[in-house]
Amino acid sequence: MAKRTIVSMPGDGIGKVVLEESIRVLDAAGFEAKYVHGDIGWDFWRREGNPLPERTIKLLEEHKIGLFGAITSKPKDAALEELAEDLKGKGLVYSSPIVGLRQHFGLDICMRPCRTYKGNPLNFIRRGPNDTIEEPEVDVVIFRQNTEGLYGGVEWSNPPDNVYQALMSHPKFKKNFSWCPKEELSVSTRIFTKKYTERILRAAFEYAKKYGYKSVTVCEKPNVIRETSGMMYQMAKAMQKNEFPGIELWNTNIDAQMMWLTKNPEDYGVIVAGNMFGDIVSDGFAGLIGGLGFACSAQFNPDSGVGVFEPTHGSAPKYADYPVSIVNPIAMIESACMMLDFIGENAIAGKIRKSVAAVVADGKVRTYDMMKMTGRPDVVEKGAASTRQMADVIISRL
Ligand code: NAI
Ligand code: MG
Repeated sequence: MAKRTIVSMPGDGIGKVVLEESIRVLDAAGFEAKYVHGDIGWDFWRREGNPLPERTIKLLEEHKIGLFGAITSKPKDAALEELAEDLKGKGLVYSSPIVGLRQHFGLDICMRPCRTYKGNPLNFIRRGPNDTIEEPEVDVVIFRQNTEGLYGGVEWSNPPDNVYQALMSHPKFKKNFSWCPKEELSVSTRIFTKKYTERILRAAFEYAKKYGYKSVTVCEKPNVIRETSGMMYQMAKAMQKNEFPGIELWNTNIDAQMMWLTKNPEDYGVIVAGNMFGDIVSDGFAGLIGGLGFACSAQFNPDSGVGVFEPTHGSAPKYADYPVSIVNPIAMIESACMMLDFIGENAIAGKIRKSVAAVVADGKVRTYDMMKMTGRPDVVEKGAASTRQMADVIISRL
């Protein structure tokens, strides 16, 4: 059988090292693939004025499956300042290439599993009855709508006249905001469409059904954000009633959910939310299972089969230039496992996950984050594993 080709997009900072280590793990686990490099990130913004070059889009169009490390994003002004001299003044505007990839390929389904690793010293614990200490087992999978909502990019400062007029036609805008000069107004929209709301809900329910989760929780704020959150919840109710009667539908507000997730995280199963609340609630749950060093994700378009798999952490620039990399590669390795699941290589994914679980449970090799150290170049001398050592021990346990 022809080898599969994977587009490898390391991006910036620690994205480069965690991706390289993950590919070593994939190789060692027997996944046969060819990796083609895709340019993405800050360097390409600075040099070419485009952090997501067309050639990278072409590669992904051709090969469909991408592994992505992380990118660096900076605010508007900083982005313009760092642009190559000959590109300045040409009206180029920086926008996040990973958000760009999601929108270009319509990677509307984002999955972020958060499962407790037994023996992880970073696991959430709480006080139980009679002063006991409990370590609830978290097994939550967040389905985040990945292309719409507050991250849809439809926003203005000092909006054009027709937009301003449209806003003024809304009685609440007129009553509460017409005092504000148009020049001092910034507006970011929160757009939900039925089509993509239905798709993320269906993905969540189908996953719950397939893997035996008892509930799907819509985590939004329908009592206040009536149109968008309200639509999602109403559609979830109909879908549950008509198609998934065996699964309970729960409804939580994002703010309350952030409080409850430390109270009774073991009660939740599948969670579904719009773009921003999905981002928030998945970081919240990730904090219970070890934080950014463990938080993995998949994003894909079920129609085209394009999928990009990435850790949820960013490029952690302050660690990028350490002579020996100290960051935890597990989030990236687990993201690579999600890629393997997506392309039907479940056996290899299972093998790698087992090995990661065994290494964490063993507790002999731990990166600095697992030892609750401050991330400094000397952590390796003090007994923390480097990124490479962690990958090595995972490979040795395969
Ligand atoms: P970050 O995730 O890069 O780092 C935050 C902190 O988390 C780090 O300083 C480190 O203490 C810890 N951390 C992150 N990954 C870790 C790992 N694998 N092992 C151990 N510890 C780890 O977020 P930050 O500092 O807010 O952003 C840095 C840059 O990354 C920014 O330019 C931001 O825009 C970008 N970013 C990119 C993302 C992406 O590529 N999808 C996502 C989030 C941020
Ligand atoms: Mg995030």
